[in-house]
Amino acid sequence: MRLVFVGPPGAGKGTQAKLICERYGIPQVSTGDMLRAAMKEGRLPAEVVQAMDSGGLVSDDVVIDLIRHRTQQDDAKRGFLLDGFPRTVPQAEALNRLLEGKGDRLNAVLALVVDRDLLVERAVLRRTDKRTGQIYHLKYKPPPPDAELEHRADDHEDKVKNRIDVYERMTADLLPFYERAGILEKVDGVGDVAEVTQRVLAAIERRAK
Ligand code: AP5
Repeated sequence: MRLVFVGPPGAGKGTQAKLICERYGIPQVSTGDMLRAAMKEGRLPAEVVQAMDSGGLVSDDVVIDLIRHRTQQDDAKRGFLLDGFPRTVPQAEALNRLLEGKGDRLNAVLALVVDRDLLVERAVLRRTDKRTGQIYHLKYKPPPPDAELEHRADDHEDKVKNRIDVYERMTADLLPFYERAGILEKVDGVGDVAEVTQRVLAAIERRAK
């Protein structure tokens, strides 16, 4: 199964990706997580750090390279779920070339749809447990008392709003690109986590037929 999750910041891509990956036994490949891990280890050039801190996009070359390497690893041979990649048409075209080179194709592109006010609330109150990587929300999914919480640098309100604007600009062409390819599934991302998971699974099953 080869899947892509598209959606604005706070739409629930990471939350749903973990559940879907468990279900299908495929790895979650998140360009955001990979970039943050590299940033912590001081492996990112200054301009990439600056792009992420400001809520802008990292250059296509950098993320395409990350995906090329990650999808070559053994655990990705049976499939994967790309979370947050592609975000631009050049990234989507590079992914197509990568897959075609191996005789593979995407099964579905799942676009989570959530309105702007809720996106801001979800992102600003998100906290992640440093030890486990588990995603919590101060209102919707309160963390346990012993969690070691981290507040992402780009989850402050002004940056979240900028990230949503960037997302809207950059994906204006991406969703029509996948619509034309006949593999786009728009999924309502409003509701509790389990409800959204059921919608995502139904969309995947429609495409897997
Ligand atoms: P990335 O890490 O991909 O961030 P993002 O796309 O902005 O998405 P988020 O992680 O903010 O949100 P999410 O949709 O995963 O939501 P979550 O499940 O956590 O990218 C970060 C940066 O890296 C980018 O800004 C860019 O600079 C760079 N980058 C990454 N990929 C790139 C690319 N391809 N090209 C160029 N640059 C790239 O949920 C959010 C909160 O809501 C959580 O607290 C959660 O508990 C809660 N929640 C989730 N679902 C529900 C629900 N149904 N009900 C109630 N609460 C919910």
